[in-house]
Amino acid sequence: MTKNLSLLDNSQIDVHLTNNSLKIGVVGIGRIGLPTALYFANSGFDTIGIDINTELVTMVNSGDYPLKDEPGFAEIFENVHSQKKLVATSDLSKAVPECDILLLSLPTPMDDKNIPDYTAFLSVGKSINKLLSNGQIVIVESTVEPGFIENELLQTIEGPNHTLKSGVDFHLAVCPETANPGEIMKDFKKLPRLVGSIDEKISSIVSQIYTHVFGVEIISMPNCKTANAVKLTTNVFRDINIAFINELALLFEKLGIDTYTVIEAAKRKYNFQPHFPGPGVGGPCLPVNSYQYLNSSKKIDTKFLKIVKEARQVNESMPNHVVKLLSDAFSESSKSLDNSTITLLGVSYKPNVRDVQIAPSKKIIELLTRKNVTIKIFDPYFVSTMVFGYKTEKSISEALNDSDATIIITGHKEFNDLNLEIFSAMKDPILVDCTGKIDPKNAKANGIIFKGIGRGGI
Ligand SMILES: NC(=O)c1ccc[n+]([C@@H]2O[C@H](COP(=O)([O-])OP(=O)(O)OC[C@H]3O[C@@H](n4cnc5c(N)ncnc54)[C@H](O)[C@@H]3O)[C@@H](O)[C@H]2O)c1
Repeated sequence: MTKNLSLLDNSQIDVHLTNNSLKIGVVGIGRIGLPTALYFANSGFDTIGIDINTELVTMVNSGDYPLKDEPGFAEIFENVHSQKKLVATSDLSKAVPECDILLLSLPTPMDDKNIPDYTAFLSVGKSINKLLSNGQIVIVESTVEPGFIENELLQTIEGPNHTLKSGVDFHLAVCPETANPGEIMKDFKKLPRLVGSIDEKISSIVSQIYTHVFGVEIISMPNCKTANAVKLTTNVFRDINIAFINELALLFEKLGIDTYTVIEAAKRKYNFQPHFPGPGVGGPCLPVNSYQYLNSSKKIDTKFLKIVKEARQVNESMPNHVVKLLSDAFSESSKSLDNSTITLLGVSYKPNVRDVQIAPSKKIIELLTRKNVTIKIFDPYFVSTMVFGYKTEKSISEALNDSDATIIITGHKEFNDLNLEIFSAMKDPILVDCTGKIDPKNAKANGIIFKGIGRGGI
């Protein structure tokens, strides 16, 4: 029988925390869910990771681990595995009735019309209607629109005939995950957590549990929708600010101003927050979160959040600008871009992670293939594997061999301090830099025809 924590006082819950006598379920053990499950397991709680991906379940149970690009992950995974504190399963029906606390770390992508897609949530919500019974606490860790939990998830879990009652048979709470891929294990130990719920008592229980496991500051939210609004606001703030700096970059290229010089100097003013230009904004968070806010506002009035829509348009147009810079460089060198061979350095949507979700590199590749270009890819996080239907190269030098031009798309740390002589392997080398890593003067001094996003005046 699971424990109904809502009937216990703080000191009784403390006893369960100290004795590790709570069973935790995490539904969705992907990039965020698996590290979360590991933290609970590493604190001593028996934890079940539940996922429809049977290959992932087998991997986790066999002690192999994904997320090899996540610093600090291996140590904690190996510790938890040797202590046998985490098991993975695809059997939701068997796992859920055993758990006192159920965390939902399910994907919240968008469809091809940029409408948020909550299929995974609604499907799990429907299934757990038949599995919850004794006041278990369900905590939504995923990023969802404000109001989704109150207006859709709650009703789905209660069921069409209200066979379950929220606040009695189960309790809904929220604790949106805010960690950054590539820094997740570190972020878990330092970022404050936002906790909200449908009823206040549950907020305080969830806060007590998260304080015990993560030891970070808890920010109490008045309800679930406010917590979700905070999460979206931090990410959409970044999307908008990157769009602003991307627009400035386009202008500065025409005005002969170097964007990086401007940002470096502007940073000296205490209330300026630097954002950097780039080939677009990808990943499972920022673009999706902007469309989640747009979806929320559309239900009220389309006049809201025009700035978010504009920002999306700017960021989504950046791959076209990258190809324009490349085409300008070809014109300058009197070579033809059509039928040429182009090397792409980096395909991940952001530096230092193995992840190509909504990556700008995909659109750049699509635009280039329209010009009948041969694509070669080197990405240190995708070595000798398939990405977007292309076999990636083993090394930079192989990728540059017989190439006409290179685009540095992702600012992986492995591309810091590149020796520009490597580009002389290309015939009449052309280099387009989307990352700001290459000093234009240095590139020119090495005989490279150089273009960089926001690099005016070169
Ligand atoms: N990745 C990030 O950078 C990040 C950061 C903060 C928050 N988030 C949010 O966290 C949530 C999860 O993101 P993620 O990056 O971990 O996604 P992910 O795709 O890496 O993991 C989701 C997991 O859920 C599983 N899943 C899908 N449908 C399921 C179902 N019906 N039942 C059980 N398992 C199912 C998938 O197989 C997958 O393993 C999203 O809402 C995302 O916006 C992500």
